[in-house]
Amino acid sequence: MHLPRAWETVTAAATLGVVLGAGAAANPANRLKCRATLDQFIDTESQVAIDGVLANIGADGAEAQGAAAGAVVASPSRTDPDYWYTWTRDAALTYKALIERFIAGDSSLQSKIDDYVSAQATLQGVSNPSGGPDSGGLGEPKFNVDLTAFTGSWGRPQRDGPPLRATALILYAGWLVDNGEASKAADTVWPVIAKDLDYTVRYWNETGYDLWEEVSGSSFFTLSASHRALVEGAALASTLDKTCPGCAEWAPQVLCFTQDFWVPEGDSGYIDSNINVREGRTGKDANSILSSIHTFDPASDCTDSTFQPCSSRALANHKAVVDSFRSEYSLNAGISQRDAVAIGRYAEDVYYDGNPWYLTTLAAAEQLYAALYQWNQTGSITVDTVSLPFFNDRVPNIAKGTYTSDSATLTSIVDAVRTYADGFVSIVQTYTPRDGALAEQYDRNDGTPLSARDLTWSYAAFLTATERRAGVVPPGWGEPGANTVPDLCEAPAPCDAAITFNARVTTNLGEDVFVVGALTELGNWAPADAVPLSADGYTSSDPLWSTTVDLPAARSFEYKYIKKTSGGEVVWESDPNRGFTTPTDCDSADTINDTWR
Ligand code: NOJ
Ligand code: NOJ
Repeated sequence: MHLPRAWETVTAAATLGVVLGAGAAANPANRLKCRATLDQFIDTESQVAIDGVLANIGADGAEAQGAAAGAVVASPSRTDPDYWYTWTRDAALTYKALIERFIAGDSSLQSKIDDYVSAQATLQGVSNPSGGPDSGGLGEPKFNVDLTAFTGSWGRPQRDGPPLRATALILYAGWLVDNGEASKAADTVWPVIAKDLDYTVRYWNETGYDLWEEVSGSSFFTLSASHRALVEGAALASTLDKTCPGCAEWAPQVLCFTQDFWVPEGDSGYIDSNINVREGRTGKDANSILSSIHTFDPASDCTDSTFQPCSSRALANHKAVVDSFRSEYSLNAGISQRDAVAIGRYAEDVYYDGNPWYLTTLAAAEQLYAALYQWNQTGSITVDTVSLPFFNDRVPNIAKGTYTSDSATLTSIVDAVRTYADGFVSIVQTYTPRDGALAEQYDRNDGTPLSARDLTWSYAAFLTATERRAGVVPPGWGEPGANTVPDLCEAPAPCDAAITFNARVTTNLGEDVFVVGALTELGNWAPADAVPLSADGYTSSDPLWSTTVDLPAARSFEYKYIKKTSGGEVVWESDPNRGFTTPTDCDSADTINDTWR
């Protein structure tokens, strides 16, 4: 399928600065088409983007009929791919953009924001394959649009959801406090935030799936989001006279952990977005750029420890990630090292054949606009060994040093970085169809929109990138007081209890028994990763299957037994799920006796 692109007939010519010849003008269909300037595009597309976001939110969004109030549908697409769900991450990032916009003056959004608060309060109470409300269920990646649990197999848990949602809601609570509604912040919004922070305190050091739902490990994005949420959560708690157990204590340790993702390379370096995983990737991934824009604090210096947009590390990483796409797509062929290119998730991506995405291309622009804002605040730009390669691509032969606002070099840097940032938005313009619709991806060869149509997150990404470009920034989150890395990294002591599962299951020859449930150790409900029980103690009078598994201490979880036949068939026990809470003491033991049902 080939959709008409905005100004498609003249795009290539305009990009090359070629004046249209008589041939093109002679075609009546082309006569009135000319490429809008970037500013014109941004003007019209901003309206399409806010309309696109609102259309995908229940209950009254035009494209979200059937979704609950305050539920953000990821995309109206119901097949190939089916995105007719509400993801905690997509919803939080979308509402973060809406709440910023509300704070910047669009008061029409408040009732939608209140809907979000109550929808999320409901979702936090829904037991799901990741767990119950107090046993890990907040890490469930997505729910049905009517706010019921999605029970199919999926890459779960994803631990970025709770801290991202906390951040969106903390922004709102902060506004309420500043506008005479502290009691609403305390009574209605804080309880939701508190649960997300409790989850974050408890699970930040455990592995889970990354934001792309593909690899289980430690994700830079998840940890950056966790750090920010814990810092601002602790501050909000004290403002509201509440407590946030563990928030202030663990935040510096989360920051400590994020330092491990930095990989020095030559004199520069990059962020390895996923660690503690086994996969054949470089780690150069838009994950890290999305992290920098999420943790952007307008009041911050260019701090390396928190990878602020203008920090040397985040700029070096920006170059590393962008460069990893330069030779990846034919769309990027022939574009010089100085200029913007189409950006995807990561170069090795194969999802829908691995194409550039609108939201990641926009994120590359947004980081640079945020950096420009920070430089303007601080009044200087420092080029050091780590950031030199990034700056050298913008201003050839630039020397290391600190340039102040009265220097011509600072002006050249600012101009060049802005032009570079605009280049990413221009690429989005080029591959946006005439009606302004933003899908998830655009084809790596010809730029045709692909995968989910009208992706809510694409529209939200457009809004935040272009607001940054206009110098509109959100309130800070306290980064300047929270960027000191402790000398020694510590993590909650890994503390296990040995749990013996004794299951009485009468089986036929060739059948095996497994336990599966809502813990990583129990395969996160995936039959393929279920833990086998042994039939060593099985007799005709006592059909005992048994195994002992080390599980985290003091943890509630749900589980079931399954049988696998030699033919590969999986037979589940009947509902409901079983539940158990492990003992609180480290290295203790307990035994569960069950009979198949
Ligand atoms: C669906 C996920 O949403 C997407 O991110 C992933 O790439 C594919 N599944 C393949 O695992
Ligand atoms: C796939 C993306 O990889 C993931 O980040 C997103 O949450 C879902 N699609 C829904 O948009």
